[in-house]
Amino acid sequence: MLCKKLHHAAFRCRDAAETVKFYTEMLGLKFTHAMGEDHVPSTGKYSPHVHIFFEMEDGSHIAFFECPKDPGETSGRDPATPGWIQHFAFEVDSMETLLAAKQDMEAKGLKVVGVTNHDDFISSIYFFDPSGHRLELTVRTCLDPVQLRAYEEEAPKVLALWNETRDWSQRAKVFGSQTGYSRPTADA
Ligand SMILES: [Fe+2]
Repeated sequence: MLCKKLHHAAFRCRDAAETVKFYTEMLGLKFTHAMGEDHVPSTGKYSPHVHIFFEMEDGSHIAFFECPKDPGETSGRDPATPGWIQHFAFEVDSMETLLAAKQDMEAKGLKVVGVTNHDDFISSIYFFDPSGHRLELTVRTCLDPVQLRAYEEEAPKVLALWNETRDWSQRAKVFGSQTGYSRPTADA
């Protein structure tokens, strides 16, 4: 495969210093790199900014730009898009870790939503960083290769029904379930 893994996903932040504090203290990420430029390296456009990187255990990063002279929302969020849509999800190693993180973040005063079960595929909690970016901590709850293969096989069918109807009113007719899809059970 051409693409080996995530290197970084980048977003605009309101304030680089508060962003460093949040990602290192709340989530325990490593603040590994900061680049300062007056001009955007790729386009040459004048935009004094700082670009900061936070590393996860696997070497991937989440990154931010504080660019105060650029127009628009300093958070980089589109105010017309519902707040739950754009988000960044970090994977954790177990449900125990997820629950402990929720407890820890709530004790530090953060509002945390969840745990939410997504289709018996992953379970997640949600919260916002200081710029208003929605973040997710998630754990894989399905590790069964048969079930994972079933998810993969049904994905084009789920998409086909969406393309046809743009809602899920026909889900039960097509998949036999009001809430999910047609899948073999783990022990089938
Ligand atoms: Fe997500």
